[in-house]
Amino acid sequence: MTCNLRLPVAETTIAGMGFRTKQVHAGVTPDPTTGAILTPIHQSTTFVQESVDEYMGKGYSYSRGGNPTVRALEEKLTVLEGGHDTTAYASGMAATVAVFLGLLQAGDHVIIGDVVYGGTYRFADHFLKRFGVEVTFVDASDLDSVRSALRRETRMVFTETPANPTLKVTDLAAVSEITGDAGVLHVTDNTFLTPYFQKPFELGANVIVHSTTKFLEGHNATLGGAVVVESAELHERIAFARLSAGLVMSPMVAWLTLQGVKTLSERMDRQSANALAIAEWLRGHPKIDYVNYPGLPDHPQYELSKRQASGFGAMVCFELHGGIETGKKLMDAVQLWSLAENLGAVESLITHPVTMTHAAVPPAERAAAGITDGLVRLSVGLEDVEDLIADLDSALERV
Ligand SMILES: Cc1ncc(COP(=O)(O)O)c(C=O)c1O
Repeated sequence: MTCNLRLPVAETTIAGMGFRTKQVHAGVTPDPTTGAILTPIHQSTTFVQESVDEYMGKGYSYSRGGNPTVRALEEKLTVLEGGHDTTAYASGMAATVAVFLGLLQAGDHVIIGDVVYGGTYRFADHFLKRFGVEVTFVDASDLDSVRSALRRETRMVFTETPANPTLKVTDLAAVSEITGDAGVLHVTDNTFLTPYFQKPFELGANVIVHSTTKFLEGHNATLGGAVVVESAELHERIAFARLSAGLVMSPMVAWLTLQGVKTLSERMDRQSANALAIAEWLRGHPKIDYVNYPGLPDHPQYELSKRQASGFGAMVCFELHGGIETGKKLMDAVQLWSLAENLGAVESLITHPVTMTHAAVPPAERAAAGITDGLVRLSVGLEDVEDLIADLDSALERV
């Protein structure tokens, strides 16, 4: 976690510096054997011991438990989130599963936001319930609902904000106050805003989940996940779940993610500026029913978003007059936008949550959570915003 010792900042730890410095340097030191400035890809399954008594003498034994390239990314993310430690995973879902496996057992109860990534809903609904964990989905933006869902057996409240796909915003500090009073854990998925815009530990969360597949890696090149925790005890339980279930990130993915994270702030700033411009443009379009973007002053949680995050993110959702049929035509008509799952990367993507990312959520629950059949989700990329708007404009003319 310290910088190249030849720099004038030799004695200063990176952790005390600005976000941009941390995203470039945290977790990474020039390779001591060659001087290579980038962390090598330690593509090795196993690590040789010098003797039977020297188990893990150099810190590693078998890459399912830990790997030096993966460790560099974990150290970087720990510094960026301001946590105690991090474990990295094969996907964002693997990260979420490790949290559930490590922290819950049969007989426990967990409260999960009613708008979360569809895969989180699917795992909780199919597997947590099957293994004897009771699950209640609540509107986490309604604090009374969270409070009244608490039971004696509740061990965890799991939030995601802004939530995928409706961009509903949850008050993280207020939920943390509720969980703190009740003595339960607050786990939050910080994928949409990343530590550049939102710092859940400063708002009282205990565990942060990431799909690094999205903004952190940022180039549509990898699947990955991370769990950042506030204490050694939580780290031990979750790392044990990762080791036992084999959910670990690969060294190659860790290396690509290490490179992606270095430009996180620049991408987030530009992609969010593009998203705001597109949301404002869409709102004025005669064929648009409504637009949801937390950075629009008429978003119901605009003030809350401004208070708890330093940016609004690059996700926009909207519905067209004519609902699903018009929405489908639009998604087929765009050219610069790609019709694809995933989000957060430099390429702009357009998605239909009901048939794609949230198909696992039953129709009644989707409707109750505002995930309507006509909802269109945009992940705004790094292209010139004029080109993105022009493509939407010409597609809207044709629907
Ligand atoms: C907010 C959020 N969390 C978690 C995930 C799961 O991540 P992954 O696809 O890397 O498993 C996603 C995927 O879209 C997501 O949007």
